[in-house]
Amino acid sequence: MFSLILDQDCTVIQGRIFAKVTLFPLFLAYGLFFYPQTLCRGPNCRIMKKIAILASGGGSNAENIATYFHASPLARVSLIVSDNSRAYVLERARRLGVPAVVVPRPAWRDGAAVMQTINAHAPDYIVLAGFLSLVPPELVQAFRGRIVNIHPALLPAYGGKGMYGENVHRAVVAAGERQSGITIHHVNEQYDDGAVIAQYTCEVSPNETPETLADKIHRLEYEHFPKIIESEIRKLTRDENK
Ligand code: GAR
Repeated sequence: MFSLILDQDCTVIQGRIFAKVTLFPLFLAYGLFFYPQTLCRGPNCRIMKKIAILASGGGSNAENIATYFHASPLARVSLIVSDNSRAYVLERARRLGVPAVVVPRPAWRDGAAVMQTINAHAPDYIVLAGFLSLVPPELVQAFRGRIVNIHPALLPAYGGKGMYGENVHRAVVAAGERQSGITIHHVNEQYDDGAVIAQYTCEVSPNETPETLADKIHRLEYEHFPKIIESEIRKLTRDENK
């Protein structure tokens, strides 16, 4: 009789332990993976969006964006593409553990090599952060509405071919402007021409130099660019789920 009760108790206790051990991971998997999937219903919906950054030079914006999204539930920087094998952005990518590839400058003229590289990594969103080559039309068409650029001036002023980095700041200071800023815009087939998403301004003081202006502009870029990218990706994710 005694052993029968003990047996029953043991069976009950074992049953509870078994239920806890097996059900807990199932609940956890559902909460972490399957439940978010049910919130994301669009045909192209994946939980974590992949950002590819195109950069030609130092890459401080690329690093800032990668760091901003490092622990984001929305998106990650999954690729850095440079058109310059000596660009310091490649060293930053290595340090950050972000895969990086070089597509040499001449290849950006026909677009095939570019598309091959991009397709191999299947990003959801493309960010130009100090990128100097013209984006081929194939890439613009494939990512229309999902590709943005940052320009270190208040477009349409001081934009277009040859207007990048130091060249822009030198021109702004030489013209005696009292104000400059940054423009974040969609990318189309021309340099610095797509629809503006946001602009932020800073004062150009009487004793400003191109170098001090570059610092001010970089600070504006670090503060605003990742947030704008985030809100644009959020909008796209919402549209996909409609
Ligand atoms: C940034 O200021 C960006 O706005 C500019 O190049 C700099 C890159 O700095 N882009 C252009 O001029 C594009 N026309 P970073 O390499 O340190 O990020």
